[in-house]
Amino acid sequence: MISDLDQILSASSGRMKRSVIRELLKMTQRPELISFAGGLPSPESFPVEQLRELTNEVLDTNAAAALQYGETEGYKPLRQLLVDRYNQSGALKLTLDNLVITTASQQTLDLLPKIFINPGDKVICGLPSYLGGIAAFAAYGAMPVGIELDQHGIRSDLLRAKLAEMRQQGQKPKFIYVIPDFQNPAGISMPESRRREIIDIAREFDVLIVEDSPYRDVRFSGEPQRTMLELDGTGHVILLGTMSKVFVPGFRLGWVVAHEAVIDKLVIAKQNTDLCTSQFVQMITHKYIERGYLDENLKKIQQSYKEKRDAMVAAFHKYMPKGVTWTEPEGGLFLFMTLPEGMDAQALFEVAIKENVAFVPGTVFYCDGGGKNTLRLNFSFMSKEKNEEGARRLAKAIEQMMGK
Ligand SMILES: Cc1ncc(COP(=O)(O)O)c(C=O)c1O
Repeated sequence: MISDLDQILSASSGRMKRSVIRELLKMTQRPELISFAGGLPSPESFPVEQLRELTNEVLDTNAAAALQYGETEGYKPLRQLLVDRYNQSGALKLTLDNLVITTASQQTLDLLPKIFINPGDKVICGLPSYLGGIAAFAAYGAMPVGIELDQHGIRSDLLRAKLAEMRQQGQKPKFIYVIPDFQNPAGISMPESRRREIIDIAREFDVLIVEDSPYRDVRFSGEPQRTMLELDGTGHVILLGTMSKVFVPGFRLGWVVAHEAVIDKLVIAKQNTDLCTSQFVQMITHKYIERGYLDENLKKIQQSYKEKRDAMVAAFHKYMPKGVTWTEPEGGLFLFMTLPEGMDAQALFEVAIKENVAFVPGTVFYCDGGGKNTLRLNFSFMSKEKNEEGARRLAKAIEQMMGK
């Protein structure tokens, strides 16, 4: 190895942080351990037989194109299909110029700061918010400005006050990062009224909104909400979609919908990153949606995750000591737990691991270092039985911490 590696590394490489969650997951590989720590969809939801059928079909009919480089913008029939689905309600009039396929949403979360962020720029995010988003923005030198959530998502009163304060100081954030549907990690879904408030504020202060919505279609109760993209309709919203939670995360397939001027810049940024997303994967995914398999399988995923959430929540009601609260999400993969004030979820993690149950301490999702008494729990990966047993073990660990 060269003698001065540390000296030649870029400033941005220094800003990159190893994911705390990935490090935690390494500690949770023991088979006897029930892990609620990861963000994984259930492998039972992977449509292996349909994939075999579609893969063979693509190879039999179109191998040359499937295995070749493709356009950076993405495979046209897939883009058209997605655009048509967004236009279905009649509120949007998107064209192909409004959508680019990406190598799943995490790539989009890296491309966005690549085109928008200079070191020191501010980005608004929720307290708490998806760690992978905050980390990607921070790698380009973005400074996160946290806004507290209530049971409806980012608090619009605090957002307005913060933007007004920043304006007085001659500052403007590059964008507001929101996860309106079954937020990761909080499990909260924004009602339309809150979505509209945030859009109004974004327009008033002339700021972009990044609407990251990987869980949108995993709704198993409550009323479906319109996307902020649809509610806005004036080009202030950049919507991130992905197949990861509704099909297979291993395909690494997602997309961005935005004003064509933003898409144009994203396409150039993506060219430098990976030239294109796999054509093979895009062609299979296109057939998967076109044939109706996505919509058909979504119902099964929703039902299965509902049962898993119900099993976990019922066990919490049965076993949790007084003073512990949790969100009961209408969809998605996570719920968020709050311990009594003063209790430390990081310390609880050590106790819980001994009881063979794991979770992610919530503080990693707070860009201000808060949330010490919170934890994120995934309910989609383990079976109903394990969700129940894990909840019992977690309650036992919390009682130990409380000295009971
Ligand atoms: C809010 C949020 N955004 C983006 C991602 C990344 O998803 P993808 O697999 O599409 O890269 C995740 C993954 O868990 C997420 O929770």
